[in-house]
Amino acid sequence: MLVVDLGGQYSQLIARRVREARVYSELVSHRVSVEEIRRRNPVAILLSGGPASVYAEGAPRMDPEIFAQGIPTLGICYGAQLLALELGGRVEKTGAGEYGKVSMRTSGEGLFSSQPVDQTAWMSHRDTVVAPPQGARVVAESEHTPVAAFEDDARKLYGVQFHPEVVHTPHGQDVLKNFLYEIAGAAPVWTPAAVIEEQVERIRAQVGNARVLCALSGGVDSAVAALLVHKAVGDQLTCVFVDHGLLRKGEAEQVVEMFDGVFHVPLVHVQAQERFLAKLGGVTDPETKRKIIGEEFIRVFEDEARKLGAANGGREPVRWLVQGTLYSDVIESGGTDGVAETIKSHHNVGGLPADMEMKLVEPLRLLFKDEVRRVGEELGMPERMVWRQPFPGPGLAIRIIGDVTEERLETLREADAILQEEVRKAGLYRELWQSFCVLPAIRSVGVQGDSRTYGYPIAIRAVTSEDAMTADWARLPYDLIEVIASRIVNEIPAVNRVVLDVTSKPPATIEWE
Ligand code: XMP
Repeated sequence: MLVVDLGGQYSQLIARRVREARVYSELVSHRVSVEEIRRRNPVAILLSGGPASVYAEGAPRMDPEIFAQGIPTLGICYGAQLLALELGGRVEKTGAGEYGKVSMRTSGEGLFSSQPVDQTAWMSHRDTVVAPPQGARVVAESEHTPVAAFEDDARKLYGVQFHPEVVHTPHGQDVLKNFLYEIAGAAPVWTPAAVIEEQVERIRAQVGNARVLCALSGGVDSAVAALLVHKAVGDQLTCVFVDHGLLRKGEAEQVVEMFDGVFHVPLVHVQAQERFLAKLGGVTDPETKRKIIGEEFIRVFEDEARKLGAANGGREPVRWLVQGTLYSDVIESGGTDGVAETIKSHHNVGGLPADMEMKLVEPLRLLFKDEVRRVGEELGMPERMVWRQPFPGPGLAIRIIGDVTEERLETLREADAILQEEVRKAGLYRELWQSFCVLPAIRSVGVQGDSRTYGYPIAIRAVTSEDAMTADWARLPYDLIEVIASRIVNEIPAVNRVVLDVTSKPPATIEWE
């Protein structure tokens, strides 16, 4: 099904909710033509909310022909107002608008079938539909919204003023499911197993007998992408794991064990720790660290890629490269056609050189992050890898303030391992967006036994977040903080103090560098 993006902050969320109902959905621009809609032949259309008033200058509009195709269409908030406006209803500014939770009385049928007649719904609108499209029935109302929902079964056009996609509308997902299953007749068949089957076929068709290369970072995206490609073309795939020595304790070993030991994916483990450390010597500026690590990564990877091409006597160079691009990246960069492109960017670790002229295999291009995790589970990836918290490409180098040395890396790695272990033991790992230790560039005085020490402090950083754009510091239980702190100072001789970071983002960032 297609979600038409009318500029609302929730379009992506709508697409995700539809997929949670196991119906495949994609986002399209409101400029989509009726021909394009016919070509895509969706089982249904959802119109998102939007920030604008339908009467505002430049407010997003759609080709009304789209509404005459007999395709079941549900407008949400602005989407509902647009339907009303285009199809003979009336939309007015009625005054203050409605924001937040409201009580709503529904018909208990159609969109609201098998739900309580009286419900709570979440509203966020200024304009209001005061008359539904011609021929449509009003099927829900709230105190300030006479047309909280309408249905036109003949033309298959539906609208809700509230937001069914947000958790504050308790029966919202049921409304979406009624629309999808009962009204549009969509089947709940979009499952991780189906995704795997479809992607395996696509990958085979795309690369044929050619050889494929994949850079592993230790993160979930590149791991799932690699396993999908391996399932599709087996040993035509070679994975290159550039070990820059900036991962957490045990992570490099886990990658090798999983790919080599469990899944038997051809793996080149490049031990580049010393190379990276040498380049980082004396560097304290965070952006310079990032740049050095990114460039060095590319250099090491290029060397390996050449070696692998050369191993074939140069007759069959590797032409395909796997990348773990996600649907959210695709949406943000404005492309939604799912076509492979040649590499453009190398802004991050895992971003690769422009002059290699490889074509991309992007098996996660249509998936949201939570779907990638479910596919990983279905492929049999270990829980630890599937649910790993986000970890920055430059790794521990940007959690060591100032100079990155072997000794300071070792200290941070040990402290971080204790934190991870205790957070997991407390059952909090998956609740936290990120949890980690930071090693500041200062020393402080302590007393251990009878002697005065002059050691490192360790900072604990734990945050909750939805998308890393904003974050709140996690209220870890005091008892847990105590266990972590006392273990760190007792087990790591170089550390004599532990502090807790209690700032949210903004004004701070999640990382310290
Ligand atoms: P900040 O620190 O900006 O981080 O609040 C937001 C999110 O981005 C991650 N992060 C990075 N990820 N390379 C990455 O791959 C980087 O250089 C980098 N810097 C920050 C950070 O861990 C958080 O999830």
